[in-house]
Amino acid sequence: MGRSTRWVCRFALLLPLLLLLLPPQRAAGTQLPLVINTWAFRRAAETAWNTLQAGGSELDAVEKGCGQCEIEQCDGSVGYGGSPDEHGETTLDAMIMDGNTMQVGAVADLRRIKNAIGVARKVIQHTKHTLLVGESASLFAESMGFPSEDLTTQTSLAIYLKWLNQSCQPNFWKNVIPDASKSCGPYKRDKELNNKGDWNDSQRRINDHNHDTIGMIVIGETGNIAAGTSTNGAKHKIQGRVWDSPVAGAGAYADSTAGGAAATGDGDIMMRFLPSYQAVEYMRTGVDPTMACQKVIYRIQNYAPEFFGAVICANTTGSYGAACNKAPGFTQFHFMVYAPFLNQPSEHIVDCI
Ligand SMILES: *[C@@H]1O[C@H](CO)[C@@H](O)[C@H](O)[C@H]1NC(C)=O
Ligand SMILES: *[C@@H]1O[C@H](CO)[C@@H](O)[C@H](O)[C@H]1NC(C)=O
Ligand SMILES: *[C@@H]1O[C@H](CO)[C@@H](O)[C@H](O)[C@H]1NC(C)=O
Repeated sequence: MGRSTRWVCRFALLLPLLLLLLPPQRAAGTQLPLVINTWAFRRAAETAWNTLQAGGSELDAVEKGCGQCEIEQCDGSVGYGGSPDEHGETTLDAMIMDGNTMQVGAVADLRRIKNAIGVARKVIQHTKHTLLVGESASLFAESMGFPSEDLTTQTSLAIYLKWLNQSCQPNFWKNVIPDASKSCGPYKRDKELNNKGDWNDSQRRINDHNHDTIGMIVIGETGNIAAGTSTNGAKHKIQGRVWDSPVAGAGAYADSTAGGAAATGDGDIMMRFLPSYQAVEYMRTGVDPTMACQKVIYRIQNYAPEFFGAVICANTTGSYGAACNKAPGFTQFHFMVYAPFLNQPSEHIVDCI
């Protein structure tokens, strides 16, 4: 054999080996899988990504990713030991949604159980229901094997005592006696003030770190979309309060034929507009993910110009974006992205509109 023929032979032998080493081919233009989550919750994105890489499903990834934040108590606004309510207790809200089957599992006002999104997943797996609340949700969790634990920590106790010492300011009451802007409860309805409209949403002034939520969208390599949320709500909330996070279409939404979205911010306002559902519906009609997020922010702006909130959006081909509403002390929103073209979770920042 001549020298050049030998080389050709060697190359012919090597070729199948080289092909084996190349990554699997993806359809042109896709950037899947994708993990995207609210705020700079880096380890949540990493955990979700690693779950996918280990062969887990999109739902597994959302559950483990958001669960990571519950363990880390991300920003004090997810998991135990944060956002004590007006009686000093920490309660949790979470939801998880399967964009293939449109099944949702959710818990709200969950007490004494740390892994709220784990319980939400069990609602899908072991019940025919969608949303369980309060003490009954805790009993369900215990029956599913979740330990019952006190969610109070030194930190949450200190937040609560400081608030008591400052005449329970701020709080979420209006039109009551004694005057809620000056004193603690118990409050009673003030018949004189009833419906006088002496208070409106544009007067809300809320520190952003009182309202962080992890919202996450995961799109697998074959286009399955899952989304979820987990939060401990707002500091000093009235007992029994449920906001957007555990409500499908409000806190998060996933439809593998259209896209996924998740919201964070002042959920009491945002939940009235079903922003996650609306963003997914925009993307269904071909609207770019960033535009879809912006359009839902603009719609809420019409009613609450200074609301605090942000939305993340991803379409079925793995393009993504986010938008936030400019409010006092809130001009930029941070979110995390993990995709094949990144070798680690990457923090993105968007200017609020
Ligand atoms: C309660 O507030 C007063 C001032 O209003 C302050 O002097 C005191 O240190 C506070 N106590 C606690 C426990 O925060
Ligand atoms: C809300 O309250 C502010 C301050 O009292 C007032 O200036 C504004 O006009 C009110 N907005 C609406 C929609 O009632
Ligand atoms: C997703 O968004 C990107 C960017 O706007 C767009 O190019 C792509 O066509 C969209 N995918 C679908 C399925 O609409």
